[in-house]
Amino acid sequence: MSDDNAIDLAQRIIKDSKRIIALTGAGISVDSGIPDFRSEGGLWERYDPHEYATYDSFLVDPSKFWTMGQELADLILKAQPNEAHIALANLEKTGKLRGVITQNIDNLHQTAGSKNVIELHGNYLRAYCMDCHHEYADNEIHRRVINGEIPPKCDKCGGILKSEAVLFNEPLPEKAMEEAVALCRNCDLMIVIGTSLTVYPAAFLPQLAKNSGAKIILVNLEGTNRDNVADVVLRGRASNIVPRILE
Ligand code: APR
Ligand code: ZN
Repeated sequence: MSDDNAIDLAQRIIKDSKRIIALTGAGISVDSGIPDFRSEGGLWERYDPHEYATYDSFLVDPSKFWTMGQELADLILKAQPNEAHIALANLEKTGKLRGVITQNIDNLHQTAGSKNVIELHGNYLRAYCMDCHHEYADNEIHRRVINGEIPPKCDKCGGILKSEAVLFNEPLPEKAMEEAVALCRNCDLMIVIGTSLTVYPAAFLPQLAKNSGAKIILVNLEGTNRDNVADVVLRGRASNIVPRILE
């Protein structure tokens, strides 16, 4: 299907849908300057996730994660939402978009103005103390990490801080998963943007939405192993395609 036909079809499906949800991955934030994980030059090319981003490795040596975190914090604190994030926030304002289920930890959907954002993999910017569980929500911690405090310590008890970003082998936030499943069960369209659909359970969600009768529009730079689930596949950059199909 040529690009223009696919865009037209996507626009028609969106126009006819009333209960839309979005599922986003790292690809939606690439045009905001945050590299994704599995493309050329992605984060996992530079940091072996088994060494830097598993819960077990964090417990053994938290400075590994926070060393990667130093680079991530710099990128995330500088990043601004792009036209794809903004188009989704505007669609929510019209009442047609019920919510965004995101695998991203960069807070860009919220910064763009989206209200109902379900963070399946947590949020990098929020942190908590592993000992006294005191919570840290401001960017102060990340400035300290950028300035070399690795790992950051709790102001209250000196304990080690952990970001709320969910690590491999760490359970997903239960409430977020429940809300995501409920949205998938009650939508008539899921727009999947910028995800390789390789990490579960997030990768199950398009099939769950489809089984509930929803149409699937998939926007991605490269092919994914779940393109076959989509009614329309739009190949290209999210910041270019998403505003076009939502205009
Ligand atoms: N526009 C659209 N898609 C893009 C763009 C772009 N500008 N740039 C990259 N992509 C696509 C890539 O082709 C790739 O298929 O986005 C996808 C990103 O895939 P991943 O890097 O695997 O990121 P994601 O799917 O979000 O990873 C899921 O894996 O590592 C864990 O917890 C981490 O949340 C992450 C999860
Ligand atoms: Zn503490």
